[in-house]
Amino acid sequence: MQRRTFLSNVAIAGAGLALAPALALAHAQGSQGGRSSQALPMNTGDSPRYRPPQRVGLGGAVGLGDMRRELSEEQALELLKTAWEQGIRYYDTSPWYGLGLSERRHAMLLSPRERDSYLLSSKTGRLLYPDPGYSHEAWQGTNHFNYKYDYSASATRRSIEDSLQRMGVPSLDMVFIHDLSPDNEDMGDEWTEYFDVAVKGAMPELSKMRDEGLIKGWGMGVNELPPARRAIEESDPDVILLATQYSLLKHADALDNLFPLAEQRNVSFVLGAPLNSGYLAGSEYYNYSRDVPKEMQQKRERYRQLAKDHDVDLRTAALHFCNAPSVVSSVLHGASTPEQVRQNVASMSATVNPEFWKAAKQQGLMEENAPVPG
Ligand SMILES: NC(=O)c1ccc[n+]([C@@H]2O[C@H](COP(=O)([O-])OP(=O)(O)OC[C@H]3O[C@@H](n4cnc5c(N)ncnc54)[C@H](OP(=O)(O)O)[C@@H]3O)[C@@H](O)[C@H]2O)c1
Repeated sequence: MQRRTFLSNVAIAGAGLALAPALALAHAQGSQGGRSSQALPMNTGDSPRYRPPQRVGLGGAVGLGDMRRELSEEQALELLKTAWEQGIRYYDTSPWYGLGLSERRHAMLLSPRERDSYLLSSKTGRLLYPDPGYSHEAWQGTNHFNYKYDYSASATRRSIEDSLQRMGVPSLDMVFIHDLSPDNEDMGDEWTEYFDVAVKGAMPELSKMRDEGLIKGWGMGVNELPPARRAIEESDPDVILLATQYSLLKHADALDNLFPLAEQRNVSFVLGAPLNSGYLAGSEYYNYSRDVPKEMQQKRERYRQLAKDHDVDLRTAALHFCNAPSVVSSVLHGASTPEQVRQNVASMSATVNPEFWKAAKQQGLMEENAPVPG
């Protein structure tokens, strides 16, 4: 079924009916089993605060949200099935990703499965409402759903319930307060006003839901440091989803100005965009934009040369680098094809020549205090 047909079915018949064939397909293909062909790294030991046990997860924004290209429902299911077969048991999505599309697609994989067989996070902050014909430039195709920001307590509960219904699952493990950040173009400098609403609304409500056992943990889902810092200082988060701020190409600010505070409070990080949205895997998108800063172009070239000299796969090194800090509890890679999922999972069991890390520090590409594997 093509996406346009799928979406008009949703509008006519409701998401549940439209998903029925795909769910049946998922059932027919074995809903509960799933072979873990690779042993993916897990967290060990106790932490005073909740940490996701899985150190590797699949992000549902670029591929499953149709950010750069439209996937058919069959392609989306194939991508998700491959992730499951490769042993991935942590999935992150959001109402924002394809304005409901990514969450609806996750239903195909997750709804038939035992709830305790996987870990799931989604986000809150944007409530979706039907708007026939609506498209947003962030996503391909026609979305048919529009959004409004609401970081109040009641909207937070409603957003989570909407996500559960879209995904056909009874609970989320983690909830991230999404894009409440100065880089959000809808907000800009006004992000602090939204933040004030969240401090009184979404944040205590999520702590309450955690206390009630409805979720295991919560945090911010942001691409900038200030909202992450403020949430740790002013509220009680467990895990921050931090994207685009910790990678081979850019990590000094997070290392110096965020990680120490988080460590003090036992807050951990789920890292998004470990490949800078694909740039470190050879894509021409750097952090979701084709407008790549000169400094990053030069840095990637130098890393490429270094990787060649040390017989290292740069994408593999990028994923290992993100997994190294003890304050990181999980790394979410994105993918738009099953092959990318397989490659990224294979990277986790590959080794990286330790001389690569030494040389990267010697050449000033990597901060001296950046933790490296090994
Ligand atoms: N504010 C937030 O809360 C926030 C922000 C950003 C991200 N996140 C989360 O973090 C997740 C991951 O972010 P991301 O998708 O930017 O991660 P990423 O792993 O840095 O980039 C994913 C993209 O890299 C390319 N890629 C991945 N594996 C590849 C391979 N083996 N070979 C070649 N290219 C490959 C693909 O680009 P193409 O599709 O172009 O081929 C893929 O879509 C998101 O999905 C989301 O769940 C959250």
